[in-house]
Amino acid sequence: MIQNKKALFDSLLKEIEKIIQKNEKGSENHRDIILKEICQFLNQKVPYYDWVGFYLVDVEKNRELYLGPYVGEPTEHTRIPFGRGICGQAAETKKTFIVQDVTQEANYLSCSPKVKSEIVVPLIKKGEVLGELDIDSHTLSPFTEKDREFLEKICEMLVESLF
Ligand code: SME
Repeated sequence: MIQNKKALFDSLLKEIEKIIQKNEKGSENHRDIILKEICQFLNQKVPYYDWVGFYLVDVEKNRELYLGPYVGEPTEHTRIPFGRGICGQAAETKKTFIVQDVTQEANYLSCSPKVKSEIVVPLIKKGEVLGELDIDSHTLSPFTEKDREFLEKICEMLVESLF
């Protein structure tokens, strides 16, 4: 396990700021490129972030998420209605949802038997959910308040610059 998460996350936030700033006021396609870069960066730098991806709200459909840029094994869950699974619950409540042991969560959509835990952080702008950052881990109970603060900060920065 990581000795000093605060120091790691503080330094990663500086790098993430640089990735985001490359693209302020870019096109929608450019936004996806930056989101993908963030996924790759998080997956590479944090050893227990095994699947990192974004789900975005489909504005044409009522309360439905679609899979955006991601890094990790392909998933069959490319569309998730609000309320279903950990992703759908985070979208519905507009709150970060941490599950330290997915076998204990009844409303869970499994992507891979390797996954042991998950954290989902919504992207919120003016009280509306626009999407979310979803991270699966192959480690049991890896997430602390430091992960929550770190990922919520990233989502705030993304909403401010890209959405
Ligand atoms: N496990 C999620 C589904 C998405 S995958 O993790 C990529 C859920 O329960 O909503």
